[in-house]
Amino acid sequence: MTGTFPIEKFKNLPTPFYFYDTHLLRTTLEAAANAAKACGGAHIHYAVKANANPGLLQIISQAGYGADCVSGGEIERAVSNGFPAAKIVFAGVGKTDAEIRTALAYDIACFNVESLPELAVIDELAGKMGKTACVAFRINPNVDAHTLDKITTGLNENKFGIAMQDMKAAIDEAARLKHVQYVGLHFHIGSQITDMRPFAALCARINELQDELDKAGIRTESINVGGGLGIDYDAPEAHPIPDFNAYFQTFRDHLQLRPGQQLHFELGRSLVAQCGSLIARVLYMKQGTSKKFLILDAGFTDLIRPAMYQAYHKVENLSAPADAACTETYDVVGPICESSDVFVKDMPLPPSSRGDLMAFRSAGAYGEVMASTYNCRHLPQAYIDDEI
Ligand code: LLP
Repeated sequence: MTGTFPIEKFKNLPTPFYFYDTHLLRTTLEAAANAAKACGGAHIHYAVKANANPGLLQIISQAGYGADCVSGGEIERAVSNGFPAAKIVFAGVGKTDAEIRTALAYDIACFNVESLPELAVIDELAGKMGKTACVAFRINPNVDAHTLDKITTGLNENKFGIAMQDMKAAIDEAARLKHVQYVGLHFHIGSQITDMRPFAALCARINELQDELDKAGIRTESINVGGGLGIDYDAPEAHPIPDFNAYFQTFRDHLQLRPGQQLHFELGRSLVAQCGSLIARVLYMKQGTSKKFLILDAGFTDLIRPAMYQAYHKVENLSAPADAACTETYDVVGPICESSDVFVKDMPLPPSSRGDLMAFRSAGAYGEVMASTYNCRHLPQAYIDDEI
């Protein structure tokens, strides 16, 4: 259904709102699961941070996916929407004691540990609760993902993970502690990565690290390579589903797993981005001195990616006739009193006017979840196609 919207139903709904195409979501989940299966049967944990909408979470958990959570709140949200705790991993550089206790109480699968002080706290809290926590160490592989600076995470200069040279000391420390059990290594190099070479470079780095561990006689049950697969923001109709085959095949070709070792992924954006759109109305068409502005009732409080990362979301006028030519050029902006509240500049569009419905495409990931109430604005509503 990509590109076609139930516009008659939209006409009665207050804007702005998110709209999710669950048919596309299900097809995408199936494509990713099949591609993972064809590459030796990896475990995929959906990165809840990309979109925590309960309706979507239920579809994703029913499709058999695990969850990758980064807060106690996400763990609660994942469990209450059908994800078995045994398929939940918990990442984050700053886990609070309360969040660690929540995770321990649920008996989640694994903590992705990012520092030795954090390991000590998990050990202490697990001891007090009479539990043993499974831990994986997030290793910073110093691989450049060549993506936006603000979403690159695998370089030495980032705050994430444990440096490669400290990996062995961390594993030794886990062996010494009584209430943690070392099970794996965890990596994540960044997000919106569409070139497979950084993933191949990550595999090469993991192979080197595993050679070191083999020499030390250390056994690792699972390798978690994180997420990061990008999507096509420019042409969502042409590429509604990312190339999961190429992605998983890269790991199959380059990663040397040890016998019996499990492979885990944490995909977020690639699973949910294309199924979501932000729908807004044109409030005013304003003729400036040299430009025309379409002022919408949605702003960066509803979709912050353009303002925060200079990200592009394709915008379409849903009220214009399907065959209308893009004869006008507009800056499409929001109502917020900040010059960063611009969705896109110099966008060719059909002639547009007050009341027209506009769709920002590819907004299913890091859209609704990043909305704010700045300016005392209301959070956008969200609808799933079969609910309206
Ligand atoms: N695992 C870890 C440890 C992560 O930090 C992330 C995303 C993921 C998995 C999922 O990555 P994905 O498959 O979605 O690329 N707000 C930004 C993106 C931030 C990504 C943060 N980490 C944006 O709107 O582009």
